Amino acid sequence: MAVSIPHGGTLIRRIAEHQELPASLPHIEIDAVALSDLELIAIGVYSPLTGFLGSNDYKSVVERMRLADGTVWSIPITLPVSEEQAASLQIGERFLLAHQGTVYGALNLTEIYRPDKEQEASQVYRTTDLAHPGVAKLMSRGDVYLAGDIMLYRRSAKSYPAYELDPEETRRLFAEKGWSSIVGFQTRNPVHRAHEYIQKAALEIVDGLLLHPLVGETKSDDIPAAIRMESYEVLLNEYYPKDRVQLAVFPAAMRYAGPREAIFHAIARKNYGCTHFIVGRDHAGVGNYYGTYDAQLIFREFAPEELGITPLFFEHSFFCKKCGNMASTKTCPHDASEHLILSGTKVRQMLSEGIAPPPEFSRPEVVEVLIRGVRATVQN
Ligand code: ADX
Repeated sequence: MAVSIPHGGTLIRRIAEHQELPASLPHIEIDAVALSDLELIAIGVYSPLTGFLGSNDYKSVVERMRLADGTVWSIPITLPVSEEQAASLQIGERFLLAHQGTVYGALNLTEIYRPDKEQEASQVYRTTDLAHPGVAKLMSRGDVYLAGDIMLYRRSAKSYPAYELDPEETRRLFAEKGWSSIVGFQTRNPVHRAHEYIQKAALEIVDGLLLHPLVGETKSDDIPAAIRMESYEVLLNEYYPKDRVQLAVFPAAMRYAGPREAIFHAIARKNYGCTHFIVGRDHAGVGNYYGTYDAQLIFREFAPEELGITPLFFEHSFFCKKCGNMASTKTCPHDASEHLILSGTKVRQMLSEGIAPPPEFSRPEVVEVLIRGVRATVQN
């Protein structure tokens, strides 16, 4: 398969970066998630979306994981504002979108609607429990949704200049490298041995790996992106063939929507040019809201050609002491007592106490960066 065709057929680009801002227009203040969505729409990560969803598309996405025209789309991309903000807006007008006083884009307002958030939560997150970070976020945002096409006038400040590659750029890079099959890897965590194992298993069958950590908003107890980025650099330097891997950031907010987010993550990586996408255990999950393999099972609901990216599914992987290597229940016959498995919570606790997880769990060079970073964060 050649570098994949963008979702919906065309890579969207809605950027007027060097154009004069239409300063006379009224402003709408948007939150950090909406700013990230604005930019992701503009650079084509959310192709075929050209703006924030209107009520027909929104209902269709919530109810059947498709845009109104039938295109697969699993997470509603909406622009929530408060009732007070909405009261002064006129349909048919153009507004500037600002975050913390800085204007980034413009919206041609085509619709103002009130969503049923309980239904959105139960369909998208499979729960209405406010203890779920995605549901809590959804409920905390404005109760009125604005719809319309957008234009981006200013990019947000670059935090990782070397790794901030738009879909247009990753596609060009893959072509230059001569890769025709590329596997995308989503993560919001440091890359531990289990992640490395499934990435390398995938690398045995494709040309290249796009290591694509999410660096948008995450919950407060996830390891900050800046620390993770340093840990990825160290890991790639020591343990991966340089000509088979590209590191770049995925500047989206984490939704913790498990299965629905796995579909969304796969489609976004297709837009970046990936042909394959890794889905392991409890992808994009949190707590016990989703079954271990729900994020794999959901792919059965779509025909391969409507997704246009091939998921690569992996079982829960671990180091087996008896085998003396990484394995999963697909490849290891030994008792669970031989398997080294540490929960994310346990690992974070160890790191903050300066205790190194064993090298069978995480590479020592990675652990060193994480302990230093996590301890510095705790002290601040
Ligand atoms: S995620 O929220 O970004 O999905 P995480 O960074 O933990 O979380 O996972 C990144 C990818 O690796 C996901 O596809 C996930 O399913 C997979 N994964 C994480 N840990 C394991 C493991 N021990 N075995 C198999 N797959 C795993």
